[in-house]
Amino acid sequence: MRSMSGLSRFAKLLTAFILGVLLSGCVVEESPAVSDPSDVELVLGREIYVSNCSSCHGSAGQGAIGTQLSGGRVLRAYPDVEDQTNLINQGRGSMPAFQARLSAEEINAVVRYTREVIASQP
Ligand code: HEC
Repeated sequence: MRSMSGLSRFAKLLTAFILGVLLSGCVVEESPAVSDPSDVELVLGREIYVSNCSSCHGSAGQGAIGTQLSGGRVLRAYPDVEDQTNLINQGRGSMPAFQARLSAEEINAVVRYTREVIASQP
């Protein structure tokens, strides 16, 4: 009986370990919050980013399938905000065009979010 209870304790530990590994794989990293919640355009920009961009560019712009945007990179690549807006509207290579999917307001909002929040992430 002693060895049986030893085995079941091991089985419980193993189950807990496997569940932990499975659950940690499901946790989706949050995109950085907007520091001023009354800035509704920036809050909208974050929502647009989470639902349209983070799957390719990473939750904090660290890059994945899409290029890194954090670490000031998006500001260096696009000193002129209009060039960045055009790229997001028209797409390039594997980067989809968003003109037909998002309104001009939504594009402006997500551009602000990448420049004012994502760019300052490490
Ligand atoms: C399907 C994956 C995918 C999605 C979704 C996506 N991108 Fe991209 N993005 C890319 C790829 C790939 C590139 C690199 C394009 C190239 O030059 O070949 C890119 C490039 C960019 C660039 C230019 C970066 C640079 O250094 O030149 C910006 C800015 C950008 N994306 C912003 C966004 C925004 C904002 C969204 C959401 C509205 C978004 N992307 C959604 C894949 C994606």
